[in-house]
Amino acid sequence: MLFPVPKAWAERAHVNAEALAAARRRADEDPHGYWKDLAGRLDWITPPTKIKDVSLRTEDFRIRWYEDGVLNVSANCIDRHLRHRANDVALIWEGDDPAASRKITYAELHEQVCRMANVFKAQGVTKGDRVTIYLPMIPEAAYAMLACARIGAVHSVVFAGFSPDSLSGRINDCDSKLVITADEGVRGGKRIPLKANVDAALAHCPGVEKVLVVTRTGAHVPLTAGRDIIYEHAAAKASIHCAPEPMNAEDPLFILYTSGSTGKPKGVLHTTGGYLVWASWTHEAVFDYRPGEVYWCTADIGWVTGHTYIVYGPLANGATSVMFEGVPNYPCNSRFWQVIDKHKVEIFYTAPTALRALMREGEAPVERTSRASLRLLGSVGEPINPEAWLWYHRVVGESRCPIVDTWWQTETGGTLMTPLPGADALKPGSACGPMPGVKPELVDAEGVVLEGATEGNLVLTDSWPGQMRTVYGDHQRFIETYFTTYPGKYFTGDGCRRDADGYYWITGRVDDVLNVSGHRLGTAEVESALVAHPRVAEAAVVGYPHPIKGQGIYCYVTLNAGVEASESLRKELIDWVRREIGPIATPDVIQWAPGLPKTRSGKIMRRILRKIAENELENLGDTSTLADPSVVDDLVKNRAGA
Ligand code: WT7
Repeated sequence: MLFPVPKAWAERAHVNAEALAAARRRADEDPHGYWKDLAGRLDWITPPTKIKDVSLRTEDFRIRWYEDGVLNVSANCIDRHLRHRANDVALIWEGDDPAASRKITYAELHEQVCRMANVFKAQGVTKGDRVTIYLPMIPEAAYAMLACARIGAVHSVVFAGFSPDSLSGRINDCDSKLVITADEGVRGGKRIPLKANVDAALAHCPGVEKVLVVTRTGAHVPLTAGRDIIYEHAAAKASIHCAPEPMNAEDPLFILYTSGSTGKPKGVLHTTGGYLVWASWTHEAVFDYRPGEVYWCTADIGWVTGHTYIVYGPLANGATSVMFEGVPNYPCNSRFWQVIDKHKVEIFYTAPTALRALMREGEAPVERTSRASLRLLGSVGEPINPEAWLWYHRVVGESRCPIVDTWWQTETGGTLMTPLPGADALKPGSACGPMPGVKPELVDAEGVVLEGATEGNLVLTDSWPGQMRTVYGDHQRFIETYFTTYPGKYFTGDGCRRDADGYYWITGRVDDVLNVSGHRLGTAEVESALVAHPRVAEAAVVGYPHPIKGQGIYCYVTLNAGVEASESLRKELIDWVRREIGPIATPDVIQWAPGLPKTRSGKIMRRILRKIAENELENLGDTSTLADPSVVDDLVKNRAGA
């Protein structure tokens, strides 16, 4: 099935088919000139003359973009728009309660960000310091990110759905001395005790000196003397003038923790110049953005999508960006579409999991709304199944709006593969192809490059400006994780098919990373949460196909000797994992496993566990190398999933 580029799109788009082909050619033939010109979209204090210095080989590994350039991200996202667009709306905040919304102009954003930057400074934050942001989806979350950028502090946003334990781990890993949070968060009519979570986390974070508490609900929260400060009190005394700190292009901008196949979450580090070039360029090209248009990305700022496509990309382009505090089904299943009508949203960007959940409610909640303002739809976070794609296209977009299925990762900073709406015919479920200058390749397990129509592991053979630069505090882990499986190439962890027309189809992770409702989770993290329970001896966690979440979490649990399996223990373990990590890690299935399939050297054979969870019992593969093949029979017989 092929959806051609609508004529109006070919005519008006920033990037039509010709422009895309020309950009690809230029990026190949004159990479220096191509990447240099791309940087020209930003305001530099000192424009870069050194454009790219990259080697992905371990011997002389380095990734440097625009390394002699000097700029400030907040000045690019705010100050440079003040001259002509001070009164344009930068952020439209839509509250959880449909009666609550606010518009923040660029002039106001400037004032708020400068004020918060001065509050940070007054609390002793200086250039290079780390600040942890644990806030709900309120404007202060964007202010805090931009205030850090303004003074050269490095932010680490922790999703407000993470537990105190997850929060303390992330605070300690990057050694933040300041945390900014809110009294409570509000989502789907429920309150989330953020300050209480911070208090619990900080029992294990000796390095934190100050906590700023933004008032969201006004709930009474206890304050620790000498440590906790009500943000509004500090802000009232702060000046609204704060000069942006000149930053080198390769100075760190932020750290964002993400799950890998092993160990604790990694602090993905992005730097200043290349990241912002990539965020702003991809936002403009992929969404065909023009100033004045209302654009809405439904992500949370706790994830990279919120960083790049709610805050940095849109604001660098002078956009009007909607920030939504709530959820798609509160107070009713029409909420997304009502918000689109209320704010006349033209470009809408969301995740397949939300679409699948809404699809289940039928077409009536969509059709009750107009959506006449919509012109472009986007999808991100996981593969979109063609059924959900077609529903999105026909029902939500009334067959008039192209869909951009954007493939990227926390590590990539911004979109790498996507159709461009004015240039590419669409295939439901395909991320189409690379942005100009991006070099995907499919390889087999041995690293042999696969040509033509084929399927393999997705690698990138060269860098792009938005690439992560290191794992915070562990550069060796960065190199080992991404550049040693296929030496000299960046390994994405994704499987991918390329069809005869050259379209790419991401098939999902090929490592031990789960994608649950578009959220990334390491099986190892869930396992270590389970074995931390006093009654659990061992655990193995795998993903299985889930109709709404994309992947569900299937846990095999071996209890300690003498512990009786029971329904109440099952509930207790589910609750335990929720509390250890956060609600996004809630196990879907727990199967009691008297034993786990292991090789004679003691390695758990996850391939078999995955097959059982997927209910593909006919092809469990070779079990003869197992130390005790009979454990498989027991697991099959007592399979717990649907
Ligand atoms: C993983 C990255 C992209 C920012 C949000 C998630 C999967 C992401 C797509 C897509 C198929 C996708 C991949 C990737 N993924 N977008 N359009 N089609 N798969 O960032 O948490 O770092 O997760 O999400 O498996 O590796 P993330």
